[in-house]
Amino acid sequence: MQLTLTRPDDWHLHLRDGAALATTVPDTARSFYRAIVMPNLKPPVVTVDAAIAYRDRILAAVPNGMTFDPLMTLYLTPDLGPEIIKEAASSEHVYGVKLYPQGATTNSDAGVASLDLMPTLEAMADTGLPLLIHGEVTDRSIDIFDREAVFLDRTLGPLMQRLPNLRVVLEHITTKDSVDFVKANPGIGATITVHHLMYDRNDMLAGGIRPHLYCLPILKRSLHRDALIDAATSGCPQFFLGTDSAPHAIDDKESDCGCAGCYTAPFALELYAEVFEAQGKLDQLEAFASLNGADFYGLARNTETITLERTESLIPLTRPLGNKEVRLLRGGETVAWSLA
Ligand code: NCD
Ligand code: ZN
Repeated sequence: MQLTLTRPDDWHLHLRDGAALATTVPDTARSFYRAIVMPNLKPPVVTVDAAIAYRDRILAAVPNGMTFDPLMTLYLTPDLGPEIIKEAASSEHVYGVKLYPQGATTNSDAGVASLDLMPTLEAMADTGLPLLIHGEVTDRSIDIFDREAVFLDRTLGPLMQRLPNLRVVLEHITTKDSVDFVKANPGIGATITVHHLMYDRNDMLAGGIRPHLYCLPILKRSLHRDALIDAATSGCPQFFLGTDSAPHAIDDKESDCGCAGCYTAPFALELYAEVFEAQGKLDQLEAFASLNGADFYGLARNTETITLERTESLIPLTRPLGNKEVRLLRGGETVAWSLA
């Protein structure tokens, strides 16, 4: 059996920088034509010039014979003012501004402690530049499993009331609460990772702790996973593919205080296909992977196609990451689909 789709895009991706690009860029470009590239480098990408320079480094890592179009983002800091928003909105290379609540995740120290940034956010609403949100509160008193739901109540709900025209992508949603919130706000888009469709928190914590399944927002109980699967396979145009593929070297994950992030990019499309097939929803994969995101961002749909074949592929255990190695999600096991 074969399945031919419009070539997909990844609407939330961490490529890292430097020597890592030699792995991460080809691993994404084998399946995806475009990707929204996250700006949480050290230091973060905070100017249009820095985004364009980063884009050039990414393009230099695209192997001959492959095509890839990185769509760049800026990192929202308290210093990012309306002038930079206007410059970004008129740049042909910047497609969004990423909001990391300070302390929420990897390299989020430069993020914002409160959303007291009205002139900046108003400029985004005026120019139509999307705000891409890591939707978790960081308040120590809030249980880590509740941080996404509390963010909707405390932060995103009031923000949408204040700026109803702001274009928002709620990134890597992990809860039924977010699925319901997105559906209730037709202007909002949301990305869904493949690992949040494949696993729940028992997979990470029962019978042993599996650090390579630790990512943020953290895996939740299975009822939330069921809601994400329903949303992704529903055909609703507000939900689209974003792997949040986020490589960390093995020793940074298997550590006293391990990093958050799963490296999923190389076989993400095959894994999504497995999830959709298990639901009897393969006919919805193209909308989720290849059409809805482009439509939300107001970009042309890709014209190339890609073909998946119903034959198993073996996912390698690791890939190089600079002078270290990174574990792949489901590494050492098979996935039911292959790229033709
Ligand atoms: C991401 C990373 O490592 O950059 N980690 C993760 O767990 N998803 C950051 C992020 O998107 O939260
Ligand atoms: Zn991410």
